[in-house]
Amino acid sequence: MNSTNLPGQPQLAYRGNALFCEELCLSDLAKEHGTPLFVYSKGSMLSALAAYQRGFAGRKVQICYAMKANPALGVIQVFAEAGCGFDVVSGGDMDRVLAAGGQASKIIFSGVGKTRSEMQRALQAGIGCFNVESEAELEVLSDVALGLGLVAPVSIRVNPNVDPKTHPYISTGLKGSKFGVAHDRVLQTYQRAAILAGIKVVGIDCHIGSQITEIAPYLDAVDRMLDLVEAIEAAGIPLQHIDFGGGLGINYNGDTPPSADELWQKMLAKLDARGFGTRQLMIEPGRSLVGNAGVCLSEVLYLKPGEQKNFCIIDAAMNDLPRPAMYQAYHQIVPLVSSEEAQQTWDVVGPVCESGDWIGHDRALAVKAGDLLAVLSAGAYCMSMASNYNSRGRAPELLVDGNQYHVIRTRETMADQMRNEILVGSTPL
Ligand code: LLP
Repeated sequence: MNSTNLPGQPQLAYRGNALFCEELCLSDLAKEHGTPLFVYSKGSMLSALAAYQRGFAGRKVQICYAMKANPALGVIQVFAEAGCGFDVVSGGDMDRVLAAGGQASKIIFSGVGKTRSEMQRALQAGIGCFNVESEAELEVLSDVALGLGLVAPVSIRVNPNVDPKTHPYISTGLKGSKFGVAHDRVLQTYQRAAILAGIKVVGIDCHIGSQITEIAPYLDAVDRMLDLVEAIEAAGIPLQHIDFGGGLGINYNGDTPPSADELWQKMLAKLDARGFGTRQLMIEPGRSLVGNAGVCLSEVLYLKPGEQKNFCIIDAAMNDLPRPAMYQAYHQIVPLVSSEEAQQTWDVVGPVCESGDWIGHDRALAVKAGDLLAVLSAGAYCMSMASNYNSRGRAPELLVDGNQYHVIRTRETMADQMRNEILVGSTPL
C-alpha cells in the first residue's frame, strides 16, 4: 500500500488514504475511544531523545525532561526508563515523577515561587538540585534546609539577557522577565550562597525561552554563561555542572529549528573552544522531546458556512488545545481519512462559548459532519494546559508503541470533575 509520511511528523503517515500513528490506524482508535482524544507515539519520543543523545556522544550530560510539556505518568515513565532526569516546577510535578518511577536524585526544581513546604518535601525526597531564581528564595531555602538538618544543593538560575526571538509570552531570558537572577547580580548571589550554612552550590543554570528556532541565541547564552562561570570560579566557588535549560523549537508550520544534534554540535564546539567541553552539563528540553509525538483527534460536529467565514465546528476546543487561543499558535489540521473532494476554506473552531475558541483559521479542508480530524504537534503544552472550562472533561490519552497501545489516561467523567465540590448544607462524603 502507498505510504506517505507527513513532513516533520516522523510517527505519522497516510497508508492509502488512512492516517496511521506508528502501526495503528488513527480512525480506529478514535472510533474505539471517542473524541477528543490525544494519541502519542513512544517511538517518536525516543527518536527525539536519541537526537540529543547523538549530539552528546562521549560527553557528560544529564538530560532532564521538562515535564511541564507533558506530565502524563505514562510519558514520564518513557523518559524515566530511558534514564532521563526531570525538570519540575512544583511539588505536584515532583510527586508525578516519583510516582512514575523517576529518581529523586535526577530531579531539578525550577520556578520563581517555590513554597517552604515544596522545599521541605523536595529536600526530604533528596532531589538533585534546586534552580534558585532570586536572592530572597536563596535565604528561605537555606533556612528550610537548616530546619531539617539538611543542606540544599543549588544552582542559581541566571537571566542572561539574551533575546530568543520567539513569542513574548515564552521568552524568559530577557531583562524585564520575572525569571532568574539578573546577570550583574549573579556573582554577589553566589558569594552569598557560598556562606549560607543550608546551601551547597553545585551548578549554574539558565533557560532563555521556548520554541526557539535559531542557534544564535543559544550561542550568545553560552558566552554569557561561561563568562559568569569564570568569574564565579575565580571567586573561589567551584561549579560542578552547567545547565543550559530547554527551549529548542519544533516544526508546527514549516518552522525549521536545528535538530538537537546539530544545535549541540555547535554548542559543544563553543564550549570546547573555551575549555569547558569536559564539564558535567545539563539540559531541560520539553517541547522538542514530545511536541511532535502527539496528535489530538477530533470529530467534525457541524459545518456552518457563512457570509464572511465558514465555520467547521469540531468537538475539541480551547480547553483541550489552549495554544491557539493563548499564543495565536499554529497547529496543522489534517483529515484522518484523506479525500479527493474539493476543499473549502474553514475556520476550525470548538464548542466553547468564547470567540477566542479557535483551533485554526482559514484552513483548506474537504470536510463534512462526522469526519475525523487530527490536530498535529499536540504532544507538548496541550494536555498539560487543558482545563475544565465549560464543564468539559479532559480528554483521554493513548501511548502507541509499534502495533500496540496503552491507555495512559481515561476520559475525565463528570463525577471526577465534581469530586471536590460540596453543595451548601450537604454533608461532605
Ligand atoms: N526549563 C525551564 C525552566 C522552563 O521554564 C521551560 C519551559 C523548559 C525548561 C522547557 O522548555 P521547552 O524545551 O519545552 O521549550 N506553554 C508554552 C510554553 C511555555 C514554556 C515554559 N517553560 C507554549 O505552549 O508554547
